Amino acid sequence: MGHIHQFNQLAAKYDTTKNKDMAKRSTDAIRSLLDKNHTKTAIDLGCGTGNVGLDLLEEFESMLFVDASPEMIEQVEKKLANMDTKKASVLCLDIEKDVQLPYKADTIILSLVLHHISDSHKLLSKLYDALNEDGQLLIIEMEKQEEISSGHQHGIDRSVLAAALTEIGYQHIQSDIFYDAKKEKDEQGVSRFILSARKK
Ligand SMILES: C[S@@+](CC[C@H](N)C(=O)[O-])C[C@H]1O[C@@H](n2cnc3c(N)ncnc32)[C@H](O)[C@@H]1O
Repeated sequence: MGHIHQFNQLAAKYDTTKNKDMAKRSTDAIRSLLDKNHTKTAIDLGCGTGNVGLDLLEEFESMLFVDASPEMIEQVEKKLANMDTKKASVLCLDIEKDVQLPYKADTIILSLVLHHISDSHKLLSKLYDALNEDGQLLIIEMEKQEEISSGHQHGIDRSVLAAALTEIGYQHIQSDIFYDAKKEKDEQGVSRFILSARKK
């Protein structure tokens, strides 16, 4: 739960140029894999300030923005108050607790959340149950990378993640790097990938 406290502190200053630019790159990557035949209901889980979900709102009939941080949810509410939309709703909920999402969705977006989750297998199983038949889980994450100085590892190994998803029952798993830190000459940065998995 410590990280939620940190996200509360971060919320008001989360929308830096860099974070907004990366969110835009993420939504472009999501659009490239989004199955537009099943896009009635969406959930942006761990939505933060809502940059990813809000940019994708036009693709869906409704979207639920979920986050464990009340301060992040407040930022989404402020943005929604300035928009003329009845498509969006918000929910403050810690998905790691013994709770379920309020309804099933066609699309679940999990952008930069998984690496904060202690039991990712449990979460991915919960999300499988929360998807409609043919539903699509879209994950944005940082590529696994060795940090030479400390030996500390960042990010997620895509092949390990794909194996875990397959074991749960997800199918048609596809992934792609949409931000290559080396090519971008971003020495501090980490490459990012999009992964799509279907409930079939
Ligand atoms: C790095 S931010 C990503 C925000 C946004 N998805 C994006 O891509 O810009 C991670 C978000 O996940 C939320 N989060 C982390 N653990 C969570 C949990 N157990 N339940 C719900 N939200 C969680 C945090 O509060 C934070 O807003």
